[in-house]
Amino acid sequence: MLHIPFFWSELFYMPSTVVVGSQFGDEGKGKVVDLLARNAELVVRFNGGNNAGHTVVVEGKKYKFHLMPSGALQGKQCLVAAGVALDPRVLLKELEQLEGKELSLAIDPRTQIVMPWHNALDGAKETAKGKAKIGTTGRGIGPCYADRASRTGIRFCELVESERLRQRVEELFPEKERLLKQVYGSEMQQGKEEILSLYDSLGKGFAKYLGDVSLQVSNALKAGKNVLFEGAQGTFLDNDFGTYPFVTSSHPIAGAVFTGVGIGVQRIDRVIGIVKAYTTRVGSGPFVTELHGELADRIREKGKEFGTTTGRPRRIGWLDLVLIKTALRLNGFTEIALTKLDVLSGLKEVKVCTAYEYNGKTIEEVPADLGRLGQCKPVFEKLPGFEVQGTETEFGQLQQEARDYVGFVEERLGVGAKIVSVGPGREETILR
Ligand code: GTP
Ligand code: IMP
Ligand code: MG
Repeated sequence: MLHIPFFWSELFYMPSTVVVGSQFGDEGKGKVVDLLARNAELVVRFNGGNNAGHTVVVEGKKYKFHLMPSGALQGKQCLVAAGVALDPRVLLKELEQLEGKELSLAIDPRTQIVMPWHNALDGAKETAKGKAKIGTTGRGIGPCYADRASRTGIRFCELVESERLRQRVEELFPEKERLLKQVYGSEMQQGKEEILSLYDSLGKGFAKYLGDVSLQVSNALKAGKNVLFEGAQGTFLDNDFGTYPFVTSSHPIAGAVFTGVGIGVQRIDRVIGIVKAYTTRVGSGPFVTELHGELADRIREKGKEFGTTTGRPRRIGWLDLVLIKTALRLNGFTEIALTKLDVLSGLKEVKVCTAYEYNGKTIEEVPADLGRLGQCKPVFEKLPGFEVQGTETEFGQLQQEARDYVGFVEERLGVGAKIVSVGPGREETILR
């Protein structure tokens, strides 16, 4: 008789889902996670920090999350895993926003803490780069992850213990102060004692949230619980596979769940790629389908494409299927969720980029080399425009041309759009 190893048999009971961005972030992951969290028991953030901004609209009320998993509004168990860069000052504000809501939160002891010198260094490095700046969110995320890699980061388990926190700040503060002053001609906004006193009080307040997220999630998966992993940012901001160096410092792709949470690689069975019906990007870097002028302004206004975190106007472009196909491969999407279809409503015709032209050749993969990517020209296919009311709750209620747009994307990608979003509200969604 065939012997099935223990972990294989477990696989059949694993309803775990990863939600990730397929473009440059801001695809609407927050809304989709809020929706899916209804059926989840645990919602886990595994990458990034408060550079992310997720907006969730429920009954007309807007909630903005930067660190809390977007499952918070469904009253689910929310977990912040080791792969996150956590700014406790921001978490405090977010918890205040949720006051009155029942909340269950655990933060992994290994989670890296964003310190005030990270913000200062983020700003100083950008200023020093001048025109070549990355256009970061200025939230200290890059320097925080750099410290993790250099093994000089402060972790959550140290934040919650006064003595250890003091030791680490005493050790690090002078070096960071010197670096800021001598290399960048800048300075720290707060003194050492001020930082210590603030972080110590935050640590004391958050000590109750300390919990081994890796262990909790592993146990939940073993018990067959439904776990939802919420990605921040998008595939092309990935530190390795994005448009380097115009990327973030963590890994927004699905594989990062394993290293960010600390679970075995056989434990994921559904990967949902969030695809915005057009493309946006904040910050610098190549953007093959970018639009300028009236049309870009119209889509930006209608889609309210201004950063949730920084308020910056987002750059706008047509849907780029070369990006999405590459993202599909990098993440292993089992399905997609197509968002913001309503924003394209009312246009006479819409364009979709289905290939790039590079050096006289047609290519269908995003080149790794930024120099090459910068020279790629989009090959567009035109589709008829459509109207979307935002009240459609079934696919059949969508106008034929809108269905054709969705069908075109599905056919070119070879995966289905099981969720089609036609407005920011929870109810403005078609589930197929
Ligand atoms: P990051 O983690 O920062 O990458 O963000 P995100 O992917 O969670 O997206 P974010 O919330 O920053 O941006 C999406 C915006 O679009 C939010 O303001 C949502 O409320 C809104 N939104 C989401 N889905 C739809 C939709 O189908 N139609 C419209 N009109 N707005 C939507
Ligand atoms: P950082 O993550 O703040 O270092 O920014 C690096 C790049 O990622 C910049 O181009 C930012 O605009 C972009 N970025 C970081 N977080 C987000 C996000 O949540 N949505 C969209 N872009 C982001
Ligand atoms: Mg966002």
